[in-house]
Amino acid sequence: MDAIRAAPPLRSRRSDVFRMLWRSSRNAQDTASRLAPSDQTSASAPAASTVKLHVRGISKAYGEATVLGPIELKVVAGELLAVLGPSGSGKTTLLQIICGLVEPSGGQLIIDGRDETDNSADKRDIGVVFQNYALFPHLTVRENVAFPLQMRRVPAAEIKSRADATLAMVGLSDFANRFPRELSGGQQQRVALARCFVYRPSLILMDESLSALDKKLREDMRIEIKRLHRETGATIIFVTHDQEEALALADRICLMNEGRIEQLGTPQDIYERPANTFVADFIGASNLIHGSIAANGRLETRDGILPLPDGCDMQPGRPAALVVRPEKLVLCGGDDALLSGRVQESIYAGSETRLLVRLASGTAITVRRTAGLPPVEIDENVFIRWERNQARVLDSSPSISGA
Ligand SMILES: Nc1ncnc2c1ncn2[C@@H]1O[C@H](COP(=O)(O)OP(=O)(O)O)[C@@H](O)[C@H]1O
Ligand SMILES: [Mg+2]
Repeated sequence: MDAIRAAPPLRSRRSDVFRMLWRSSRNAQDTASRLAPSDQTSASAPAASTVKLHVRGISKAYGEATVLGPIELKVVAGELLAVLGPSGSGKTTLLQIICGLVEPSGGQLIIDGRDETDNSADKRDIGVVFQNYALFPHLTVRENVAFPLQMRRVPAAEIKSRADATLAMVGLSDFANRFPRELSGGQQQRVALARCFVYRPSLILMDESLSALDKKLREDMRIEIKRLHRETGATIIFVTHDQEEALALADRICLMNEGRIEQLGTPQDIYERPANTFVADFIGASNLIHGSIAANGRLETRDGILPLPDGCDMQPGRPAALVVRPEKLVLCGGDDALLSGRVQESIYAGSETRLLVRLASGTAITVRRTAGLPPVEIDENVFIRWERNQARVLDSSPSISGA
């Protein structure tokens, strides 16, 4: 390395080495022999519309209880899809069906155009990073990372260089000779990530893989995963219950609830155009004001009559909810107000302050104020407004909310 040139930050040097190794052997014999013909072309430049994985009507029941589906989902080659949802919504079950650890009760799993439903886990070209690390306790860190390569009979010299480069990528070069029990939870999780990335599967599944890491490390790993994803062209399905993580990482988000997909779309789609009240409530901080559609194209609520955004064609009398993001709300004088309430809590967060305002009906509204605006006292009465078209109106009748 040229000592005179300013050295780039350690982390980017690490991943440069890793990317070089990944790329240089992407067309190597061992990789090519495992890939379907369609995959060899998609490895270098995946066509935007190539379907890597088609979850076709997959369902799962345990006894009488249906915990999943039927799910219909197409994952495009090279995309990073976040499967997001509350605990118990079926995310892990879906992932385990995709990788072959759980047998579906119905439906088909098509990978690279082939029906893999009846193929066992080891026959599928899928890398998995589990929630609970699942490292081999009797193997060192380096041996753990080398294991998938040994299974694939990669030459010994290449195993060592690839394992070491991958360990460098996750910042664990100095821990190669330790055993998993000698590592912290976060370090074990990084070994698990390295053990998956080292073998360069064309489809990678991650189940809450960053949850155990502390905040700073989690953010570093997110950037690392995003960069690796971009450079390698691998298709990644990433399970998380953390909406911030999904918004930050994903090309698309598949939002699940009670074993069903509530919405599938880009982070922007899901944040800006939630399909129903569940999505609006789950993603980002949302204010939901419930009421019913009035004859004059307004929403009648317990806190007054509110204007609807343009283009609402819902029938008068229907139960509906107005959704307004906290950053769209502003405090104003009484004449311009759409709502009024009492400040219950003021939460300082550096670049912004969040006000929790309680309306007369008891509904709580969050208002986000950027730093520098005049402070507001607890118990103060405030008036709130927003641009009519920055709100969304969603049908909130029970039969629709779970659609
Ligand atoms: N082996 C099992 N037997 C019975 N029920 C299960 C089993 N595995 C998961 N479930 C149930 O399936 C539902 C979905 O679980 P899971 O896929 O783990 O959700 P998530 O990963 O979204 O938290 C839960 O209600 C869970 O209790
Ligand atoms: Mg889970």
